[in-house]
Amino acid sequence: MAENYKRYTVTAALPYANGPVHIGHVAGVYLPADIYVRYLRSQGRDVKFICGSDEHGVPITIRAKKEGVTPQQVVDKYHALMQQAFADFNVSFDIYSRTSSQTHHQTASDFFLKLYNDGKFVEQTTQQYFDEKAQQFLADRYIVGTCPKCGNDNAYGDQCESCGTSLNATDLINPKSTLSGAVPVMRETKHWYLPLNDYEAWLREWIVDGHKGDWKPNVYGQCKSWIDQGLQPRAVTRDLDWGVPVPLEGTEGKVLYVWFDAPIGYISATKDLTPDWETYWKDPESKLVHFIGKDNIVFHCIIFPSMLKAHGGYVLPDNVPANEFLNLEGDKISTSRNWAVWLHEYLLDFPGKGDVLRYVLCANAPETKDNDFTWKDYQARNNNELLAILGNFINRAVVLTQKYYNGEVPARGELTDYDREVLGVLEGMPMVIATYIERYRFRDALSELMNLARLGNKYLADTEPWKLIKTDEERVKTIMNIALQISASLSILMEPFLPTSAQKLSNMLNHPLGNWSAAGSADLLAVGHVIGTPELMFEKIEDAAVEAQVQKLLDTKKANEAETAVVEPAKENISFEDFSRMDIRIGTILEAEKVAKTKKLLKLKIDTGIDQRTVVSGIAEFFNPEEIIGQQVSILVNLAPREIKGITSQGMILMAENADGSLAFVQPSKAVKNGGTVS
Ligand code: MF3
Ligand code: ZN
Repeated sequence: MAENYKRYTVTAALPYANGPVHIGHVAGVYLPADIYVRYLRSQGRDVKFICGSDEHGVPITIRAKKEGVTPQQVVDKYHALMQQAFADFNVSFDIYSRTSSQTHHQTASDFFLKLYNDGKFVEQTTQQYFDEKAQQFLADRYIVGTCPKCGNDNAYGDQCESCGTSLNATDLINPKSTLSGAVPVMRETKHWYLPLNDYEAWLREWIVDGHKGDWKPNVYGQCKSWIDQGLQPRAVTRDLDWGVPVPLEGTEGKVLYVWFDAPIGYISATKDLTPDWETYWKDPESKLVHFIGKDNIVFHCIIFPSMLKAHGGYVLPDNVPANEFLNLEGDKISTSRNWAVWLHEYLLDFPGKGDVLRYVLCANAPETKDNDFTWKDYQARNNNELLAILGNFINRAVVLTQKYYNGEVPARGELTDYDREVLGVLEGMPMVIATYIERYRFRDALSELMNLARLGNKYLADTEPWKLIKTDEERVKTIMNIALQISASLSILMEPFLPTSAQKLSNMLNHPLGNWSAAGSADLLAVGHVIGTPELMFEKIEDAAVEAQVQKLLDTKKANEAETAVVEPAKENISFEDFSRMDIRIGTILEAEKVAKTKKLLKLKIDTGIDQRTVVSGIAEFFNPEEIIGQQVSILVNLAPREIKGITSQGMILMAENADGSLAFVQPSKAVKNGGTVS
C-alpha cells in the first residue's frame, strides 16, 4: 500500500447550522470520513481531520425567521448541538470550527481580495429578482421555481437538489419568492463572477481525463456531464445581510456567496488547528480528500477547485468520495418535515449504543445508490450480526480462556490443515480491509471484518473446544490460542468502525490497541499473557425499543398531515374579466408516457375538442400512464406554450392537491363532449 503522499488533509462537509445532524448526514459523510481517518491514524500516517459548522447562507436566515430569533442565535444553538453530538458519537475531528469565527472572516475576505486584485473576477451589473413586498433581492433559497433541467417544482435559486444541477435564479421557470410568495420583479445590481467557462478546459483535463476510474462513478459522471454541457460564470457575491461582507468599498448590503466562503472554512479551520496549516494545504505531498453528500458534488469538484486554481499555491482534492442519500422508512429524510432520526436524540434514547448505529449505517451506507434505513433492519443487524457473530465469538474466546487457563494465553501445539487455513485468512485480512478502505469502499471493508469474526465463530463451532476439553486438553490449547489471536486482530481492525467496542475488547484482552501493521499476526498475544475480565460487547435490542422509535415516526407523520391539512388562505378578489381570460376546456387523455430521466413528468396527448395537443404534467408520482388513458380532465388551453425537457407543452391540466401532497384530476361529474368549456 505504498503511497506517494506524506500527509493527509481530510475534510467532512461543514453542516449548515440550521438544524441538528441526522442519520443521513452521518451515513453519507461523517461516518465514512471518520472510518477513513481512524484507519489512517492506525497506519501511523500524518492526518488532519477538519470540520465545522457552516453558519452563513440563506438556510440560516430562513430558520431564524421561522423561530423568531436572530441568525446568530440560530447558529450558536445548532453549532453547540452538533459539536456535542459528533463528540458523543466518537467522530474524531481534529478540529470542529465555525464559519462565523474571526479567523474565517479574515481568511475568506483575503481569499476574495486576492482573486479580485489578480483580476480573476468579472464584474457585472445585471437584472436580478427582487421581492417588492419583502424589499429584498431573492438569492439562493429565497427563491424557488421549476428546474429547467428536470422539472422539479422546488428548485432553489442556486441549485436543484433533485438533479444536482447548479442554477442561476434567472434560470428558474415560474419563480416565486419564499419570503412572501410574491412573483418577483427585476432590479439592477452589481456582482462579481468567477468565470468558470475559463476553467473548463483545465477541469476537463484534470477530472475527465485525469480521474477516470479513480473517482467514484457517481461523482465522475456528474462532473463529466456538467463539463460537457459547458460551464457558465458564477456569481460569488449576494445581496444579503448575513455572511462575510464583501471587502470592497461601496458594497454595503453585499456578502460573499455562502458556497464561496464555506469551503474556505476548511482552510480557516486548519489555521485554527495548527500553525503548520500551510503544509497541509500547499505541499504537493499532502493528499486532500473531501467527504460529502451527492448534493455537494458540483461545489467540491468544480467550483472550489476552480477557486483554488485561480488563487494558486493550493493542492487540489485527490478524491471526493461523495455518497448518495439515505432514506428513512421509505421516505426522503427531511429536516423541515422532521422526518429524521436525529443523532443527538438517538444517543439519548440508546445510551452506550453509538457503535450499533455506526455498524448499521456503515453496513447499509448509500455508497453507490440511495438506501433505506429501517428500525427493523437496525434491530436485526444488532441481534443477528453484532451480537450473534462478533459478540458471541469474542465472548466464547475470552470466557473459555478464563475458565480453562485462568486467563493465561496457552501455547499452540502442532497445527492441523484447518488451523493453518484459518491463520492464513487472518494474516491476509488487514490487507484486504485496508485495500477496500483506501478505495472508499467502507461497506465491503466492514463486511470483510465481519467475515473474520464469522470465521472465528465457525472455527470454534467446528472444533468444539468445550467438548474436546474432556478428551484432548493439548488440542484445546492450540484452538484457544488461535481464537485469541483472531480476537486481538479484530480489536485493531474494528477500531475505525466500532471504536468503543474495540476499546472494550482491548481491555478484555488486556492488550493495547496496536498499529494496523500488527494485525493479522499469529503471535499478537504472547503465550503466558494474562487477559482481563469478560464483559458483554453488545446486548440484544428488544422489540419494544424499536417499536417506540417507529411510533415516534408515525406521530411525526400524523403531526405533518395535521399541519399541511391547514387550508391555504383565500387569494385577493379578481374581476370577472380576469377569470374569463382563462380558456378552460374538458379534454380526454389519449396517450400518456413517462418523460425519460425524470421522476415527476408525464407526457400526455389530449383531445381538447379544438385539437390534439401535447401537455407535459408533473404528475408521474401519482398516476400510472396506462391507467389514465381515456380519462377526462380539465385543461387550461390558452396558457402560452412552454418548453419542458425539450418538449413543447401546450396547456396545463388542472389538478387538486391533497394534504399529503398527492394529486387528483379535476373532472366533470359525468362525461361531457371534448372541448366543452368550463366556466
Ligand atoms: N453546508 C453545506 C451543506 O450542508 C455543506 C458545505 S461544505 C463546504 O450542504 F465545503 F462548503 F464547507
Ligand atoms: Zn433539476
